Amino acid sequence: MPNPMLASAIWSFLEDHAQERPPATLRRLFAEDPTRAARMTHRVGALTVDLSKHRVTDRTMELLLDLARNRQVLERLQATQAGEEVNTTEHRPALHTALRLPRDAEVLVDDVNVVPLVHEELDKAVALAERVRSGEWRGATGERITDVVNIGIGGSDLGPRMLHRALADHHTGDLAVHFVSNVDPDDIADTLEVVDPATTLFVIVSKSFGTIETLTNARTARAWIVDALGEDAVADHFVAVSTNEERVADFGIDTDTMVGFWDWVGGRYSVSSVVGLSLLLALGEGGFRELLAGMRDVDEHARTADYEENLPILMAMLQVWYGSVLGAQSQAVVPYSTRLARLPAYLQQLEMESNGKRVTHDGTLVEHDTGAILWGEPGTDGQHAFFQLLHQGTHLVPVDFIGVLRPTNDVGDHHDQLLANMFAQGAALAFGRTEDEVAAAGVDDALVPHRTFPGNRPSTTILLDELTPRSVGQLVALYEQKTAALAAVWDINAYDQWGVELGKVLATGLLDVLVADEPLQEGDGGLDASTAALVALARRARGRD
Ligand code: F6P
Repeated sequence: MPNPMLASAIWSFLEDHAQERPPATLRRLFAEDPTRAARMTHRVGALTVDLSKHRVTDRTMELLLDLARNRQVLERLQATQAGEEVNTTEHRPALHTALRLPRDAEVLVDDVNVVPLVHEELDKAVALAERVRSGEWRGATGERITDVVNIGIGGSDLGPRMLHRALADHHTGDLAVHFVSNVDPDDIADTLEVVDPATTLFVIVSKSFGTIETLTNARTARAWIVDALGEDAVADHFVAVSTNEERVADFGIDTDTMVGFWDWVGGRYSVSSVVGLSLLLALGEGGFRELLAGMRDVDEHARTADYEENLPILMAMLQVWYGSVLGAQSQAVVPYSTRLARLPAYLQQLEMESNGKRVTHDGTLVEHDTGAILWGEPGTDGQHAFFQLLHQGTHLVPVDFIGVLRPTNDVGDHHDQLLANMFAQGAALAFGRTEDEVAAAGVDDALVPHRTFPGNRPSTTILLDELTPRSVGQLVALYEQKTAALAAVWDINAYDQWGVELGKVLATGLLDVLVADEPLQEGDGGLDASTAALVALARRARGRD
């Protein structure tokens, strides 16, 4: 069992250690130890991860790993994969790792081995995808499907959408896949404008099949198909991915064309389930199974590697150091890959919905800051936007740089330029340029403070050998496992999301007030003055008052 007394002693050691003077600077740490870069660079699967540009000494890492050991982080990762009820407020395990286990593996949930169930649904999804991809599946008019529209939001959109783009060079080219998530009418309108009802298949993805945005978009899509092809066409143009068969049937989608998953797969952890159907349609079976294999590589590493070698744990403990000890508020993720442009958005849900929590498992207020504000954009674009703040601003923002060693599209020297920029940013952040160096370069005295780079700004560099389903699977699982490791340190539940509920409830009430036939009366809907004024404005704009 974790020892809370010891844990609080380690937190104090860490806090004292953070105050030690002179502070360890990256310049000094690198100058003193020529082996630092090699010692702190790790390899798992096709990923190389350089942790040397972090503001940590060996002593810092020792204390951080003491904390991890005390919090039994490795044992928590193992217990999660074994099916323990880690989602304590919803009384269920979080078994996304079971989605990528081989057929002969065993993980029990309520005494039932779930691995055969996983493979049964996956096989069903593969067969369905093959029917569509081969042209065996026909639309109502007898034409083959050319376009797939994935309708879902949050975990039912972000993972498939991010990976669809990341693996664009691995699409088989049989189908064009589109994604609609926002309830904003422009989102679906833009997509319906470029597809043809006769050749379009809608994949409605919703774990609950109760998410308003998804159901609203699905209804609009259904009406569009019925309008063009008649009511009987629905069965040929809609498939569903859900855990809720009853709601799928109520909605009017044939449950024979539904593929399912289980409540022990969290939405934001569901991309390796049949939630990835649209991805499977784009990649084909081989690519999708490779993605799962990549995730399994890292799950296995996270379960078996000891603390000093365990990359998700090391990355988590560095985040604890910056966020919970040094007071950093945010974490930037900057992929130097256009293909990975949606990675920050995907990680926002993964990390912020998982670890944006203020109470521990037993409901006690946490004593340290938890999940960081995660944000980012691809490089080199980001360099011309927010990097100024990273280099010379007042905030401490650790950065994850993510790049690819061998490009898929090797055109001229583009890729070399891309990597040169990524490496340059990491070095500039870490080592900066001192006042003396700036002055020695002949810069005017008045400009010296403006042109000085303080440096000592931390970053992780992750390099994928190539952008393949396997390596990208490894990258995703690395962040999933890091997220779980962080939750273990903070003793929070990474698998519930009560924080999104209040807004949903209020929106339902507000919709009634917004569209009511009767004029708005003071006190209607129990609205506060600000919200009431905004509602009144919106009603007037639509001619309702
Ligand atoms: O609103 C948050 C959330 O519940 C996410 O956790 C989830 O990924 C998303 O909504 C979509 O939910 P569903 O797949 O049930 O439509």
